[in-house]
Amino acid sequence: MKDFIFKMPTRVHFGNGVTKKLPDLCKELGGGKIFLISDPVIASTPIMTAVKAALDAGGADYELFTDTKPDPTIEMVDNTAKALADSGASIVVAVGGGSPIDLAKAVAMLQTNEGSVREYLFGGTKTVQNPSIPLIAIPTTAGTGSEMTAATVIGDMQNNIKLSVTHDYIIPKAALIDPQLHVGMPPIITASTGLDALTHAIESYVSLNAEPISDALGLHAMRLIGANLRTAVADGNNIEARSNMAVASLIASVAFMNGGLGVVHGIAQSMGGLHHTPHGIANGLLLPYAMDRNYVGNFRKFRDIAVALGIDVEGLSDRDAAYTAVEAVFDLQEDVRVPRTLKEIDIEEKDFQAIIDGTMPYRLLAVNPCKLVEKDIRGILEKAYEGR
Ligand SMILES: [Fe+2]
Repeated sequence: MKDFIFKMPTRVHFGNGVTKKLPDLCKELGGGKIFLISDPVIASTPIMTAVKAALDAGGADYELFTDTKPDPTIEMVDNTAKALADSGASIVVAVGGGSPIDLAKAVAMLQTNEGSVREYLFGGTKTVQNPSIPLIAIPTTAGTGSEMTAATVIGDMQNNIKLSVTHDYIIPKAALIDPQLHVGMPPIITASTGLDALTHAIESYVSLNAEPISDALGLHAMRLIGANLRTAVADGNNIEARSNMAVASLIASVAFMNGGLGVVHGIAQSMGGLHHTPHGIANGLLLPYAMDRNYVGNFRKFRDIAVALGIDVEGLSDRDAAYTAVEAVFDLQEDVRVPRTLKEIDIEEKDFQAIIDGTMPYRLLAVNPCKLVEKDIRGILEKAYEGR
């Protein structure tokens, strides 16, 4: 067995109604004024009412900032970092899906590290030198896992690419996972973010960088998603399914922070920069097509995925058992009613070369279970374009 390091620096508070703990948690992390980052949609929902009620009940001093859009850009990060500095706040709370949490991670970092976020992006001129000011994340979706990880994805609109800042110093100090806040999430968001979580679990499990702890986490996340995603999409009020999906997302994110990701996230990041395809939609669409290419890289692990997703592989050869994992994900994709072809999301064949060019530099392609070249990425896109 190879040597490994395992990290899970974020403290997790999980439970229905755990949002009430927010003021005490802020005090524990140093107190002071709170810069509360969200988006205009979440700010108008009962989620923000619950967060504000908790802060008011605790007598907290806070400033709500909602001048944000999906997929933070360099300009948005730099402007928000300035607003945070001007506010005099000493702690950040992010409420939302992956975008507000990624934005919060970047702006908390820029309070203690000089310059523009542009300089800290992958391939940039600066590296993070100092720990961020404290950040607490309250995810309102069960999928991105941004509340647990060391990366923040930022759009460079001049070059139509998404890049990331990755450093342990930007990992949130704490995450409040409150499944009650997920009850109003629309089915398409539940489905697409849930498939993002499944992509984290599967890509980390078959990654060349996988280790025993990330393997255990990834498999359990797959079991939970296989057993609960359909119910969470069909009946958003089912708090048990919501709770299981929230746990699945959490542990899948810890799995991928340690085990890594693969080609699905590489293509999704490229499509996100070029076409603004939402992260969960891209991953949920591409996952089974990429598995169809990757399963030859590790029959035993793809067989394990099939079993974790509830498939009976008794009596099948290793190859046939592994392929049932691909079929199981196609079935799940169909059942939760997400887009299943690139045609459906208006990606055209003439777009493929730019998507491929954006995918090839993706750092984690190096740990994909099969070594993939341009031709392979094109093959995945061609299959995903036509569907099966
Ligand atoms: Fe993801």
